[in-house]
Amino acid sequence: MNRIFLSPPDVGSEERRLLLDAFDSNWIAPLGPHVDAFEREFADYVGVPHAVALSSGTAALHLALQILNVPRGSHVITSTMTFAATANAIAYVGATPAFVDVSRGTWNLDPDLLEEELERRRRGGTQVAAVLSVDLYGQCADYARITELCTRFGVPLLEDAAESLGATCGGMQAGRFGECAAFSFNGNKIITTSGGGMLVSHRPEIIARARYLATQARDPAPHYQHSEIGYNYRLSNLLAAVGRGQLTSLPGKLARRRAVNETYRAALASLPGLDFMPEAAYGRSNCWLTCITVDPARFGASREDLRLALEAENIESRPVWKPMHLQPAFRDCPIAGGSVAEGLFDRGLCLPSGSSLARADQARVIDIVAATALQDCTL
Ligand SMILES: Cc1ncc(COP(=O)(O)O)c(C=O)c1O
Repeated sequence: MNRIFLSPPDVGSEERRLLLDAFDSNWIAPLGPHVDAFEREFADYVGVPHAVALSSGTAALHLALQILNVPRGSHVITSTMTFAATANAIAYVGATPAFVDVSRGTWNLDPDLLEEELERRRRGGTQVAAVLSVDLYGQCADYARITELCTRFGVPLLEDAAESLGATCGGMQAGRFGECAAFSFNGNKIITTSGGGMLVSHRPEIIARARYLATQARDPAPHYQHSEIGYNYRLSNLLAAVGRGQLTSLPGKLARRRAVNETYRAALASLPGLDFMPEAAYGRSNCWLTCITVDPARFGASREDLRLALEAENIESRPVWKPMHLQPAFRDCPIAGGSVAEGLFDRGLCLPSGSSLARADQARVIDIVAATALQDCTL
């Protein structure tokens, strides 16, 4: 049996054509016409005026936090339910992540807890330096609430849109909220450049500064002149060419990921004890990964039993992100709430969701999930 992966790259002939064009033009450098075009085309898609292509989503988060002047020793509020890169970037600038639990109805940063936390800190005179909200598994956080809170408390908002390209919130594209937003083109994302990222913003000075810092902070001079410490964070022209090809097929990829999600729902939603990650009424997910939770008492098997049953059939699935406040690397960081994320981690599983997932392969996944439930229900 061929292995079914969680979210493999889905590349086509246009990517190949553009990559060879970049190769043949000899622009094999972290600058060039494909980088410029990718930035323009990406910004147009998201609906923001400015974008800079970078070597990863993590690099985009790191630069954003530095440019927003998050001081060393300060706290940055973020969702505990995320990939480590979000919290790592906060640590890179010498700040501490202050984790907040997620809402049961969205799996994203809980706005009520965020409000309590901002209020508590204001009263105590320990206001945070920024809020870094995460759009989990392709679903935007509740930006109507979060942007209002950040404005009211005077705290800059940064959006981790690594997983949410093509999702919307209140009719607006992911990446349009806050001061700036970071995207990822890692190999498992909805579009990929093998590795890469983009920082977007409505503020030109943020993107100009990110471009400067990402190019070793090189000052304009004929020789190499540096007034500040920078980074080597630019995206290669070869990879930008791949990204441009991927972007042209994004509408098809979004439609396919949604169809995969709907097929899972139609086939599995009636199984006892199995629930899907809810889609929030305020927006539309890009369905990057289809995630379920299983209640062992009613489903008849635990999340881990199900993962192992899939693995035995050469099917990759993954537990949902382990909350950051449970990670040894962040054990000393503050956490507000946490029980919702812990419950999701105990029961949550991401199913194969790639835009290239063949219908017959998805049917195999569905059969195993259903058989695991039924088998254990008959015990
Ligand atoms: C929520 C989140 N933030 C940040 C990142 C980091 O992106 P990258 O892998 O491109 O550095 C990822 C994905 O990898 C992610 O899922």
